[in-house]
Amino acid sequence: MDDLIQRAAKDLADSKKAVALTGAGISVESGIPPFRGKGGVWEKIDPEMADIDMFMRDPAKVWQVLIKEMKHIIDQAKPNDGHIGLARLEKMGILRTVITQNVDGLHQSAGNQDVIEFHGNFAWHYCLICNKRIENSRIDLSVIPPKCDCGGIYRPECVFFGEMIPHHHLLRSKQLSAQCDLMLVVGTSAVVQPAAYMPVIAKQNGAKIIEINMEKTQLTGNISDYLIQGKAGEIINKIVAEVERLNELR
Ligand code: APR
Repeated sequence: MDDLIQRAAKDLADSKKAVALTGAGISVESGIPPFRGKGGVWEKIDPEMADIDMFMRDPAKVWQVLIKEMKHIIDQAKPNDGHIGLARLEKMGILRTVITQNVDGLHQSAGNQDVIEFHGNFAWHYCLICNKRIENSRIDLSVIPPKCDCGGIYRPECVFFGEMIPHHHLLRSKQLSAQCDLMLVVGTSAVVQPAAYMPVIAKQNGAKIIEINMEKTQLTGNISDYLIQGKAGEIINKIVAEVERLNELR
């Protein structure tokens, strides 16, 4: 594994426009469970709860079973070495943008300036009737589903299953994927489209694809040039320390 860390550090130090695509795995070390696999959210909760049709049919149930639970976990979470490492790479001028599927806001908390929230976020909610936006911290959970002064129900600014990715996020993600010279694919099972297509676009346009994941994915050995297997926080921390060392020598 140390060889791969050296290799990734060198590839990053040589890169001028790297992009990261992150998924739930990068936030596991912050105490947020992933969706799939052992201990994943979808083991305990029916994924139908994340479907927009279900939310519109029974918002109280979706708030109670899924959103309230996730909001509680996200509210307590702090960035880990994985998020912090990516922020360090941005400061060094290596990493341009983080495209994240996560709704937890931890990349921004760690200091990344350019973050595309591909699946939206839990930081803001809006009223289904008057569209008024409200910050997460101001949501009153004493009544479920939480409601706006106008009587409308609030929903998080996330993308439910069955909804479109916001057009500007999709467009910019595709452009950045096509232009980057290196893509770090961190902690995503790469099964949910269109996010999982971004590494394919990057590869087709000549970028190096480095995966960091606990397990192999369908990108491994196919789209990704190599996989560094293990915990994202530990691995990214080692890689970034090595990039900093290499930069000092140059
Ligand atoms: N470090 C690195 N990788 C990890 C770690 C860790 N500490 N823990 C888990 N992983 C890996 C898993 O092996 C898995 O490949 O993270 C991945 C998490 O996969 P998913 O749970 O499927 O998360 P993600 O790919 O982000 O899901 C995509 O699915 O349900 C939706 O909207 C939700 O944005 C989400 C989308």
